[in-house]
Amino acid sequence: MNSTGSVLKYQLKSFENLPIKIWDDPKQASKHIADSISLAIRQKQQEGEKIVLGLATGSSPIQVYSELVRMHKEEGLSFKNVITFNLDEYYPMHPDAQQSYVRFMNEYLFDHIDIPKENINIPDGTIEMDKISEYCEAYDKKIERLGGIDIQLLGIGRTGHIGFNEPGSWETSPTRLVRLDAITRRDAIKDFQFEEKVPYRAITMGIKTILNAKSIFMMVWGSHKAEILKNAVEGSVSADVPATFLQKHPNTKVYVDQSAVSALTRFSTPWLVGMCNWDEDLVCKAVVWLSLKIGKPILKLTDEDYT
Ligand code: GLP
Repeated sequence: MNSTGSVLKYQLKSFENLPIKIWDDPKQASKHIADSISLAIRQKQQEGEKIVLGLATGSSPIQVYSELVRMHKEEGLSFKNVITFNLDEYYPMHPDAQQSYVRFMNEYLFDHIDIPKENINIPDGTIEMDKISEYCEAYDKKIERLGGIDIQLLGIGRTGHIGFNEPGSWETSPTRLVRLDAITRRDAIKDFQFEEKVPYRAITMGIKTILNAKSIFMMVWGSHKAEILKNAVEGSVSADVPATFLQKHPNTKVYVDQSAVSALTRFSTPWLVGMCNWDEDLVCKAVVWLSLKIGKPILKLTDEDYT
């Protein structure tokens, strides 16, 4: 209590500009996302309407897809009223190729559910170069005609890309052909074996296309994503980290697991947020941090520095 009798409250400072939901593990989180999707599908079914889903590839959404498949097989969840648009595809890329996103989507989702084939849209990696801009425009128009994407799933690349919108992508960008960042190409070696085999380009939904979705779930799993998660969530909005544009979206939720959160200010330097449970380890960590931050040896730190 202070002198006026009111209870003093700690003022917690938030550094985060996007709502984050932390889960013990990706499986639990993925189940929750799949539950939200199935609820939305069923609601639309009751209203006799279609639902438009924006889908992602990469390792992040795999467990969401396997949960949706389970719900289809064990709980009778039907996908007959579902229309899907995938975020991206390498260019050039044949749909039958081992690394194509068509193959990925069939393997993890489409081959196991009752979605009508004509409801599936994935950017075509075989389109002729001179037809690409027309093709991309038509992709966006089709989404618009259907009333927009209801739920968009996203992963995040280590460059901060969403879809294949690499650093430098502008906020109003539509679906288009892009050049892949060197880091993204290096990360793709695991799928292509040799760097020379990784395509230099891709077709991706634009930032604008993504931001037009009514609701967005971004999934971030693993310690290797900790730094980029911090930049995406705490950094100022900038084309340097395209995922920061999500901060402008009114209904984005970021689902993360315990290992992805380590770089967030509230975990890495909780004393900056305003309240923490001091123990010996945390005191040591804070002192080392302060010494590095202001460039003074620990033994020379003064009361003023600590304050
Ligand atoms: C690829 C995809 C992105 C995805 C990213 C992250 O670049 N085009 O849409 O978000 O990989 O992949 P992962 O989920 O495997 O970390």
